[in-house]
Amino acid sequence: MDYLVIKGNNKLKGSVKISGAKNSALPLIAASILAKKDIKFINIPNITDIRTLIKILVMLGAYSSEINGNEVVINTNNITNVKVIYDMVRKMRASILLLGPLLARFGKCQVSLPGGCAIGARPVDLHIKAMQKMGAKIDIKNGYINATATNGLRGAHIVFDKITVTGTENVIMAAALAKGKTIITNPAKEPEIVQLCEVLRQNGVEIVGYGSDEITIIGTDRELLDISNVSIIPDRIEAGTYLCAGAITNSNIIVKGVIPKHLESIINKLSEIGFNFNINKDSIEILPSKELKSFELSTSEYPGFPTDMQAQFMALATQCNGVSIIEEKLFENRFMHINELQRLGASISLLGSIAKINGITKLKAADVMATDLRASSALILAGLVADGESVIHRIYHLDRGYENIEQKLLNLGVNIRREK
Ligand code: UD1
Repeated sequence: MDYLVIKGNNKLKGSVKISGAKNSALPLIAASILAKKDIKFINIPNITDIRTLIKILVMLGAYSSEINGNEVVINTNNITNVKVIYDMVRKMRASILLLGPLLARFGKCQVSLPGGCAIGARPVDLHIKAMQKMGAKIDIKNGYINATATNGLRGAHIVFDKITVTGTENVIMAAALAKGKTIITNPAKEPEIVQLCEVLRQNGVEIVGYGSDEITIIGTDRELLDISNVSIIPDRIEAGTYLCAGAITNSNIIVKGVIPKHLESIINKLSEIGFNFNINKDSIEILPSKELKSFELSTSEYPGFPTDMQAQFMALATQCNGVSIIEEKLFENRFMHINELQRLGASISLLGSIAKINGITKLKAADVMATDLRASSALILAGLVADGESVIHRIYHLDRGYENIEQKLLNLGVNIRREK
């Protein structure tokens, strides 16, 4: 298994180009099931999660080209198999995104239940209830969601009592091919949701209200869509992670190819800590700060502070002056990075969903283990400032979501290498 070796006490310089957003590419690739011809995806991040989803589609009978220079062509015309097996879903929970489009197009599918994962129970009850409301019969047996809607799905009023990103995406995709009108009350508002809706709208689906508290979709009654080209938006979490790399090392770097508006909550928090920025149309330069002040944050749905940046800010808090408080409101177990940060010398206490981080702590290199995708990036950030050579194990978690991470860090001047 690969591991990363990082030599600490780095000062970063230069710029980094941000890849396409994993969480936008995943639902859009799932949405290829709604389309009748080749779709060319542009700015696809070449990361494990994307390759896994494409592999599942190919297992179902779809065609995919190789990912070439961040482009890939997918055609789902020849899908005959509608069973998404456990072995794939366990590798990537987001495989649940296939439920809505498969059911809408084929009137039936079997999707393995995702089961538990490192960051909490993460149930899919809201996805299932929504599909039932749209007319599907659902039978859960032997760990599989067996869904049927022999005459197709029909539009319905879905009220989410909890905001769910992939749940909202599943309903949007299902509603696009359903018969009649679907209204989603209390949907997620993430930029990735907005992009999915825009792609559907540009390709003939009547859809309004995305980015607000209510989305309305008029379905095509199983008429497949004419999607041909999709260009993936930049990954705001990858961009936020590199901004944190600049912040934790108090360096001057530029993240390029971003949509600054998507990073508002992250930039606001970094400003509170003491950083200034030069923000242009598609780049953000972070400037070093005289003092890094401690901070408080609570994770929440977009446009609030993203849970996917919580671990990175915890690493940063170890270098801030005073006690920082981080509350995780979305996932009950998303604190696995604390033990590993403590191995590097961090002083953190956890009470329920609230972590207290004492700064400024001089971190010392150690062997640490990645436990989930974002936890791994927190360990890299800590390694950037730890004294000595840190070794980060189980980096397959990192490879799920960060394209060419060691090359991008090397270009910023980090002393990092990947070993087998
Ligand atoms: C998505 C993102 C993930 C991010 C998360 C929250 C993708 C592929 N992944 O995950 O990176 O961390 O949003 O921003 O886009 N819930 C239920 N029942 C359900 C569904 C969700 O109780 O049926 C709960 C979850 O346990 C969690 C909360 O709702 O507490 C939000 O989860 P959700 O938005 O669904 O996360 P994902 O879509 O899995």
